[in-house]
Amino acid sequence: MALQASFLPSAALSKAHREGKANGGAKDSAFFGLSFSDHKKSDISASVFVKRPNASLGAVRAQAAVTTPAIKQAAADGKKTLRKGNVIVTGASSGLGLATAKALAETGKWNVIMACRDFLKAEKAAKSAGMAKENYAVMHLDLASLDSVRQFVKSFRQSEMPLDVLVCNAAVYFPTAKEPTYTADGFEMSVGVNHLGHFLLARELLEDLNASDYPSKRLIIVGSITGNTNTLAGNVPPKANLGDLRGLAGGLNGLGSTMIDGGEFDGAKAYKDSKVCNMLTMQEFHRRFHEETGITFASLYPGCIATTGLFREHIPLFRLLFPPFQKYITKGFVSEDEAGKRLAKVVSDPSLTKSGVYWSWNANSASFENQLSEEASDPEKARKVWELSEKMVGLA
Ligand SMILES: NC(=O)c1ccc[n+]([C@@H]2O[C@H](COP(=O)([O-])OP(=O)(O)OC[C@H]3O[C@@H](n4cnc5c(N)ncnc54)[C@H](OP(=O)(O)O)[C@@H]3O)[C@@H](O)[C@H]2O)c1
Repeated sequence: MALQASFLPSAALSKAHREGKANGGAKDSAFFGLSFSDHKKSDISASVFVKRPNASLGAVRAQAAVTTPAIKQAAADGKKTLRKGNVIVTGASSGLGLATAKALAETGKWNVIMACRDFLKAEKAAKSAGMAKENYAVMHLDLASLDSVRQFVKSFRQSEMPLDVLVCNAAVYFPTAKEPTYTADGFEMSVGVNHLGHFLLARELLEDLNASDYPSKRLIIVGSITGNTNTLAGNVPPKANLGDLRGLAGGLNGLGSTMIDGGEFDGAKAYKDSKVCNMLTMQEFHRRFHEETGITFASLYPGCIATTGLFREHIPLFRLLFPPFQKYITKGFVSEDEAGKRLAKVVSDPSLTKSGVYWSWNANSASFENQLSEEASDPEKARKVWELSEKMVGLA
């Protein structure tokens, strides 16, 4: 599975890159409303971001500096213009990921790299969403295989596109599973895909983000209310709980426990636990790298998008009743379109650049900084999850 249709022919990606470069100069900068002095990490005069060697990014391999100037000076009127941004969205073949890809592509200001496990499905989805060819490319990524993640990073680098924003969005959810399933590397599937695959991807691509000269570089990991036990939804059993991480320390495979807390397998809890890991990981990235790189790290709960494929493994009656229940009873329902616009704002809105934040939206669709649960904001747990995850994905 990991090796099938590895990625769009590089010619197509290079074409996207060239078009991104060519279009960039013609684009209006107003959407960022930027002033260079606001972005101390961007070395505009040098037109390249030259990575400095430093201790905490020490494990990051050296890489050629990106040569595409993010901001060009328009000759005639002296106005600053911004090239097209490059954003990778994992799981962009359906639901929130597709809606986000569409919202970003429609602006004409983003080249969306749809990182998907099913190449043809992603192509069809982009087409049926009406996304113009020049605004996206599909690349193969199976987060259930660490080899595939590494291959994706390699292929992306071969395209020579700068990376400006990474959105870790893909997820699986097995609420009715009686038995665990496993990734190619032998990890329980929910945590393997939702957390560990993304952990390796984000760690590997951090240096690419750092090398970008784009004025606002962001790494976004989609979270969920269901992992937060300080909410009503987060208190629906089984509740998220990583315990003392003994299952994660044991490898999360068939030999020991498949649950992070070392307990019996429970598919619904495994998903919620994986979302806690996503939110902890975002904060740990922020603590370790924000100051030194200027990258904005963020998570979000986009609202209950009750119609997406995430619920495909649920019983048919649940799938039938869940959307009207969320629409008319809890009133927490959001359409895929609206949720996509929310995530697209976290990617590109100049007002959402604060790092280390978990964004949510109120009934009037206004964003606010939400509080995470005690466990999902525990720095000590975040550090331990980070260190154990590093070992599991072969980074330590
Ligand atoms: N739906 C909600 O109410 C809700 C609420 C809060 C947060 N979220 C979060 O929103 C994000 C998107 O979920 P969604 O609701 O949009 O669900 P979805 O429609 O099922 O989308 C999930 C995406 O992940 C992809 N994916 C699954 N396994 C993968 C793998 N091994 N490698 C690469 N991609 C893989 C899927 O690909 P295929 O198309 O090939 O299956 C699909 O594109 C998730 O992080 C979820 O936790 C959702």
